Amino acid sequence: MRRRLNRQFVVFTYAFIALLTFLLAEGCRKDPNMEPCNSLAATPYSLVKPLRFPDMTIPSNNPLTEEGIDLGHYLFYDSTLSFNHTISCGTCHRPEYGFADSGKVFSLNAKSLPTKRNTPALLNSGYQNKFFYDGRQLTLEDAIDDAIVHEMFVDWDASIKYLSASSFYNQKFVAAFGCDSAINKQNIIKSMAQFIRTIISSGKSDIDTKLIAPNNPSLLSAAEYNGYQLFVSARGDCFHCHFTSPLTSDNLFHNSGLEDSDTTFFGFKDLGRGGFTKDSIDNGKFKTPTLRNIAMTGPYMHDGSLQTLKDVIDFYSDSVKWSPTLDPKMIHAGNIRLRLTPTEKADMLAFMNTMSDREISVNPKYTNPFYRH
Ligand code: HEC
Ligand code: HEC
Repeated sequence: MRRRLNRQFVVFTYAFIALLTFLLAEGCRKDPNMEPCNSLAATPYSLVKPLRFPDMTIPSNNPLTEEGIDLGHYLFYDSTLSFNHTISCGTCHRPEYGFADSGKVFSLNAKSLPTKRNTPALLNSGYQNKFFYDGRQLTLEDAIDDAIVHEMFVDWDASIKYLSASSFYNQKFVAAFGCDSAINKQNIIKSMAQFIRTIISSGKSDIDTKLIAPNNPSLLSAAEYNGYQLFVSARGDCFHCHFTSPLTSDNLFHNSGLEDSDTTFFGFKDLGRGGFTKDSIDNGKFKTPTLRNIAMTGPYMHDGSLQTLKDVIDFYSDSVKWSPTLDPKMIHAGNIRLRLTPTEKADMLAFMNTMSDREISVNPKYTNPFYRH
């Protein structure tokens, strides 16, 4: 009996030692696919913003770094994030069109279906605190998550697997988020948010160099100056919603009279803000879009129903429609239509054109980085 126990003990000890040796050997064996990780801390990045632009609030859990922005720049143009690898953010948000789509009323999503709304410009988005025409997201990170899901139908597991298999991306994720960083949904979104926060006006458009920075409207041409006067005066009255800061949007929701409500209160084709808040007082209200780069981002309005800037000016002049939620700011001396003269319309158009910022269309900081390879 005693001898048997002893033998059992010896066998057990041998087995235990063998197991330990095996585990140790496995642990030390070098994974041939694993590069040694020696990342330096990511380099903090300070935003370059034009004169008189406000400071941007950057969330403390996603500070801007050179490496994070660089990674986000690539991911923004990488169709790996769409479920069938067909489209990227940059397919719809194109720098040469002010980060809106190329003249399309609606864009095609990854399932080749038209988007619900016209693709907006992504310029100066980091300044916003409500995203999409209905303001359904409150942070840029959540807006990006929403876009990847609803426009690109991301399959997170498949995309992450694909990115993880790439040594190019492995290096970029380590550089941006450190050695223990994972290629995961959170870091993908964070890096894209960092990139989008850098897409701000260059300050080189006429409205900046002639009007806002030197604060000297007389540098504008006569037509541009008259258009500006119309824009900021009670006669044109655009500034209440569009000129509260150099960002040219108050980031609030208004019904600017594009649609009537088919005589019933709920008859808007798109309820806009009301579709999100479920409060009928918000029906027909949409977030004020930026007018920066406006000459490049047509067609216009949430439904892309106005083809040209001239059409938009004609709309404010001659075809604003009444509905119960029409913004009081759209009523001028009892009239909802401005009835601009042909000269006033031409002046307004000239002023709109001062907001074009060609710099961001061609700056390699923003254009598709894969074309450089
Ligand atoms: C198929 C075209 C398409 C693709 C692809 C696309 N978007 Fe968009 N994006 C839109 C449309 C359309 C809207 C407006 C939707 C709305 O307001 O309901 C929008 C709105 C946004 C907004 C809110 C802008 C604002 O001013 O409120 C952000 C931010 C955004 N997209 C980022 C992205 C990012 C990042 C990606 C890639 C992950 C992306 N989008 C991919 C079409 C697209
Ligand atoms: C009551 C607020 C308000 C006033 C006043 C106002 N706008 Fe707008 N503007 C908006 C809103 C909201 C939209 C988006 C409406 C939509 O998509 O249906 C918009 C859209 C636009 C667009 C199209 C932007 C795009 O990207 O599609 C232009 C251009 C424009 N406005 C110019 C003007 C001009 C010029 C004036 C003065 C004549 C003016 N606005 C007065 C709120 C206003």
